[in-house]
Amino acid sequence: MREASVFTVLTAALVISWARKMSVPCSLSARFKGSFAYFTVKDRLPQILTKVIDTVHRTKSAFLEEYGEEGIEAEKKALAAFSKLRNELHTDKPLLLLMDNLPDTELWNQYLEHQQSLLSENDQPSWFKSPWLYVECYMYRRIHEGIVLSPPLCSFDVFKEVKNESFFQSQQAIIALCTYLQELAKKIKDVGEEQLKEEFFKLLQVSLWGNKCDLSISAGQDNSQKSSPLASLTDLQSCILVNDTDHLWTVLSHGMKMRSSQASVSRVDIVLDNAGFELVTDLILADFLLASKLATEIHFHGKSIPWYVSDTTKSDFQWTIQQLRAANHRWMSKCGSNWDSNLKKEVWLYHDHLFWTLPHEFCKVAQVAPDLYTELQKSDLILFKGDLNYRKLTGDRKWDFTVPFSQALNRFHPAPLCSIRTLKADIQVGLKCGQGEQLTSSEPTWMISGQYGVIQFSALI
Ligand code: F6P
Ligand code: MG
Repeated sequence: MREASVFTVLTAALVISWARKMSVPCSLSARFKGSFAYFTVKDRLPQILTKVIDTVHRTKSAFLEEYGEEGIEAEKKALAAFSKLRNELHTDKPLLLLMDNLPDTELWNQYLEHQQSLLSENDQPSWFKSPWLYVECYMYRRIHEGIVLSPPLCSFDVFKEVKNESFFQSQQAIIALCTYLQELAKKIKDVGEEQLKEEFFKLLQVSLWGNKCDLSISAGQDNSQKSSPLASLTDLQSCILVNDTDHLWTVLSHGMKMRSSQASVSRVDIVLDNAGFELVTDLILADFLLASKLATEIHFHGKSIPWYVSDTTKSDFQWTIQQLRAANHRWMSKCGSNWDSNLKKEVWLYHDHLFWTLPHEFCKVAQVAPDLYTELQKSDLILFKGDLNYRKLTGDRKWDFTVPFSQALNRFHPAPLCSIRTLKADIQVGLKCGQGEQLTSSEPTWMISGQYGVIQFSALI
């Protein structure tokens, strides 16, 4: 009898600890007053919408020039759509179905129905009550709808102007990086394994800190990199809260050694984040991976519509490479023409699946976009750039700081993967015991200031 009850207690304890491990915490949301989500929905998103309205208004004469009176009518229609959207947001109106009949419209509308099904009958999904990740993505998708339903403006990117400005404002830092890369390229064949590893660490950190320069956090204000990013790497090292670079090196260098005996492919995928300076740092890293033979193929994944102000679209990707090619600086233009030829040779490939601009967390890729999941499974290593990708990897939930990264991924493991992200949202997993609490007491804004970063790896597949 006594043995049986001990057994029962032990079993119950195991079940409870298993349930704790498996259950996922609730989503971040503006319903938590005082949270960063609340502040974003209340202040930051309306500010971004106001800038969008201003941009469309300022472009009026260009629309007139290009499309005549039809352009003016379209401008009025888009402005009306954005003002209505801003009002819905301000007054916490229910979220509406999309009406634009694009390839992803049905998926968005099904998502809204799903959110509705989680609520009681007399409740509706709305800006301040629904998950933050959902409503924030929804705002960018509604901006796109406003443009699409205002022909002939359909291909107008409301954020293009600020993205391009941010590229130009980072010129000096871009020159410094292109020069460094070309000098490294000259000697790369003679570089030993230890130095190669050091260079990899350096360029990975440059790509990490490049993520500080997103225009969503600054609501479109100048957020560019002015000085050489290479000079400050040592000082910034203590700000990397989780640094799994050694694991990445093991994956890549192991692949390189195996390949030399079997002549196969090593594929790295980079799920891009922001255009401007950050994109250049990613291209520099991608160039180094090929030149050093750590990888033989790089697949870039960008957004198919304008997204979170500064995210990279195909047009931004091509524009950036063309800007570098045409630059007046020898090493900038050398980088531009090398990168152009990488694309032509198809050792660099650009993809823009619509899944990346859906509101779903990444553990849903296999179910919602099985074609994308199959593609990602072909990778030897996937690098996820930026804060929004981190939020989608971890489901944007209130995880404890010490929950392992692989647990927060919630079974999303198409290939070994790594998040390279500066912290700009109040979510972080995989910290040491007490680390998060200590930071909170010494620097209350550590999770949203962009001053800290992680290079966080998960090998599970
Ligand atoms: O508005 C919030 C947010 O999602 C933040 O998490 C972050 O500041 C930004 O938008 C996007 O950042 P990133 O460009 O690094 O994905
Ligand atoms: Mg971004």
